[in-house]
Amino acid sequence: MSMTTSKIVEKLLSKVDLASLIGERVKLQRKSGYTVGLCPFHNEKTPSFVVYPRSYFCFGCKKSGDAISFVRETQGMGFVEAIKWLASKYGVDLPELEETSNYKKEQDLGKKLYSALQHAHIMYMNNINLPMGKEAREYLHGRQFSDKDIKEFGFGYAPRGKSVYEACRGLGLTDSEIIQASLSTGSSGRYYDFFQDRFIIPIYDSYSRLVGFSGRALSSEVLPKYKNSRETPLFNKSSILFGFYKAKEAIRKGESAILVEGNLDVYRLWKAGFRGACAGMGTAINEGHLKQVSYFTNKLYLILDGDFAGKKATISTIDIALKVPDLNISVCVLPSGHDPDSFILEYGSDGFKDLVENHSLDLVDYVVGEVLKGATSLEIPHKVSTSILPWLSRLKDPIQRSYLISRISDITGIDAGELHRQLRFVMNSNQGYTGLKRKVDQNVQEQKPVKKLTIELTPLDREFLANLFLLSSDDDTTTLIQRIQEVSSYIRLDESWSVFIKEIISILRQGGSPSDSEIYTKMSSYLDTRVVSFIQWVQKNIKAFTGQDRKLAIENELKEYKKRYYQSEIEQLKMQLSSNPEDSLTILQSISSLNNEIKNL
Ligand code: CTP
Ligand code: MN
Repeated sequence: MSMTTSKIVEKLLSKVDLASLIGERVKLQRKSGYTVGLCPFHNEKTPSFVVYPRSYFCFGCKKSGDAISFVRETQGMGFVEAIKWLASKYGVDLPELEETSNYKKEQDLGKKLYSALQHAHIMYMNNINLPMGKEAREYLHGRQFSDKDIKEFGFGYAPRGKSVYEACRGLGLTDSEIIQASLSTGSSGRYYDFFQDRFIIPIYDSYSRLVGFSGRALSSEVLPKYKNSRETPLFNKSSILFGFYKAKEAIRKGESAILVEGNLDVYRLWKAGFRGACAGMGTAINEGHLKQVSYFTNKLYLILDGDFAGKKATISTIDIALKVPDLNISVCVLPSGHDPDSFILEYGSDGFKDLVENHSLDLVDYVVGEVLKGATSLEIPHKVSTSILPWLSRLKDPIQRSYLISRISDITGIDAGELHRQLRFVMNSNQGYTGLKRKVDQNVQEQKPVKKLTIELTPLDREFLANLFLLSSDDDTTTLIQRIQEVSSYIRLDESWSVFIKEIISILRQGGSPSDSEIYTKMSSYLDTRVVSFIQWVQKNIKAFTGQDRKLAIENELKEYKKRYYQSEIEQLKMQLSSNPEDSLTILQSISSLNNEIKNL
């Protein structure tokens, strides 16, 4: 079980009154210091079911467990389902879990934060026309943005001090809400505004909702040049495409989608008639960005600034692009020292149009060209085998690999068949690409993890699930299935895996084998991606699982699950010994009973 899961479970169990929970279903009574009742898990006439503060134990049928297992057993719920049910019943806030009950709270907070941002925006826009906004206004004029532009684009000015904080307080927002909107910083009684003496650019999400601001320094002495709102419940920097809320409408009408690096570049492009322009928020381009664009067009121009940092579009950009195959990406590098803003100011709209239409390269050609840049014709084969093949070997889709090989063959003049042979060699030798691998891993980390309660698989889980998946219909699996169902409440896996186990059982029941390619291909289309990649892993490592008695292995794994469960019960009971000395006799009896269970497994 992962740390987070055990923490969630711990937090929840500490809030649950087990006697009252069980008391709703079982008539409990106090008997010589113990809480006892008739066991709900087997038929009995005299009570042998004992409820402790954190666990229960039946001296008759030896069932034991905690609040979670009680809910699962009596209501037929899964592990996560039971956690959610208990959390909402006992009003326990589990922000780690996506909770329906939290949804409303989040919505209310969201509304408050939006209104705070809107109010702040009105203040900023108002300020820029006041004497205090003179410097900001002049700065913008100097950068060729007129008063009309200022009004149209919603530019503003944030003065020093805490006027926004005070206005928000006046609106009835709490200190915590103002801070959560990233409008102020500070602590207990000493607050000041987040943006100080900066010109303000509003940031909208793709649904045109104001989610944050970007504040630009008015002089080059002030650092940082740009200060963006902190991440807030509304503002998720890496998912925002700056200006896309407007660009998408233009793209829908047929304008070219243009992705640039800076936010002022976007306004310059809009002004120059390129209404399909948008920008990242200073973060690297990611799959989410491209997906958003791909809903509106199948063609994107990526404009890179003509400085060193801008030229660093690497192979990892192709990896990201490959995940959004609907989108054709062309790359266009600006002359050294230029960004779209300065380029247009110097060469005009026509210059930019010419650049995009006549001097852009397909992403793959561009990146491969960058990798091979400066290499002499004799060095090219070496560069291909050290930089390009290791990358290709990492791509999972054989059709993509094949396609890219023919492209690279065209670019380099190396025979495609030879590239295929070498690629196979690299894939088998499984080495030589550590440098590139690191770059890609970093990229994976950048993606925000999905907020979902997941439980990492232990080695035991992996073996058990693999053996289960590899079971075939010719084994008689009826008894085994029964055993699995008996033990299932001792296996703590989240829903994706429970669903997987249920699927396997139903396939076996129908006389099929889960690992038949036709069956697992069908399964893969509706199972969780983690499960699908697990299946792929099993198939890759199939040798590790062959040649053993699978049914026996599964029986042993089930025993091990039960044993671990009992052991954790014993640990819990031991902890209770010190806090409930008056119950020590029954607790010790339970422990010895459980120890016997383990021996008899
Ligand atoms: N950026 C940022 N924080 C910084 C610097 C840059 O968030 N300290 C982001 C901004 O969104 C900025 C983009 O990265 O628009 C590109 O940065 P840069 O090229 O340095 O700025 P420009 O857009 O050219 O800004 P300006 O023209 O105002 O100098
Ligand atoms: Mn610039």
